[in-house]
Amino acid sequence: MTPATTTISRHLSEEQVRLPDWTRAILELLNSFALVGKIISREVSRAGLSQGLDENGSQNSQGEQVTKLDVLAHNLICHVLSHSFQVCIMVSEESESPLEVPDNCSRGNYVVLFDPLDGSSNIEINASVGTIFSIYRRISIDGKGTIGDCLQAGIKQVCAGYILYGSSTMLVYTMGYGVHAFTLDPYIGEFLMSHENIKIPARGNYYSINEGSAKHWTAGIADYLDSLKSVRSTRPPTLRYIGALVADFHRTLLSGGIFLYPANTHYPEGRLRLLYEAAPLAFISEQAGGRATTGSERILELKPKTLHQRVPLIIGSWEDVLDLEKFILQARSKAA
Ligand code: F6P
Ligand code: MN
Repeated sequence: MTPATTTISRHLSEEQVRLPDWTRAILELLNSFALVGKIISREVSRAGLSQGLDENGSQNSQGEQVTKLDVLAHNLICHVLSHSFQVCIMVSEESESPLEVPDNCSRGNYVVLFDPLDGSSNIEINASVGTIFSIYRRISIDGKGTIGDCLQAGIKQVCAGYILYGSSTMLVYTMGYGVHAFTLDPYIGEFLMSHENIKIPARGNYYSINEGSAKHWTAGIADYLDSLKSVRSTRPPTLRYIGALVADFHRTLLSGGIFLYPANTHYPEGRLRLLYEAAPLAFISEQAGGRATTGSERILELKPKTLHQRVPLIIGSWEDVLDLEKFILQARSKAA
């Protein structure tokens, strides 16, 4: 078998010929995330030996414990993106306000929103974590970039992706022309194309949810899961939940099925953040033929009101997500 040889840089240059709205800026930004992915991958793989696991003693604006690796990933991404000269403003899970590009870096026309280290508490137990990113074109004409540039509906994304630091490190992205994945070969330090034009199976056998909150789920969710378990009695569905969104989503993307983080009493708006968790994964899911919804609204059409807004997220195989939406609709009309 011929080994994989298409590097991410070569793939991106080839896309230049194929894609009508290809821009050098997106190439620079994706190359920036490839670089960041390699560096974070190195740090994550050594975290048990260094102090990367230690909490740095603070909480972020979302009330979550911040580890030293969260801070490293956040600072690294801000630095690399600023030096790409393609960005006018950035949003990170680790910063309450938008981040300006420093004065010594020229500004570009793009807005980048990111979750530097998703599921970072998983590092303590040597399980998977990830980085998620979402890229928009600015709507302001010039200057530093505005909050309005950051609060665009997901449908306006020009590119989205994630890096999974798992048993191997993978970068998955879409520019609106399919979903492609690259696996890091640590021996040559290159991301090589491993999955071209990924499609989510229309149905899957996995469901992924934190069942500890079952008592507090919104109406329809429990009914759907009950039916899932009884209808397919010949092959019962399998529960898989890692607790790091990137890893749970990645399995759903490749193997099919459904991932859910509905609203509950502890997180009445849902737990996951619209701008840098739900919207980029929704873009990838739809590009792979899947579906992403709050239960009643398409994630990509939501117009964000605040930077760290949370949403219920139901994402994955088209038919499975559709089935769940029917249960939610039924439960709502019964209650009305
Ligand atoms: O970023 C939030 C996050 O860590 C996700 O990666 C993950 O899907 C979710 O929280 C897990 O939440 P819980 O521990 O409530 O199941
Ligand atoms: Mn996260």
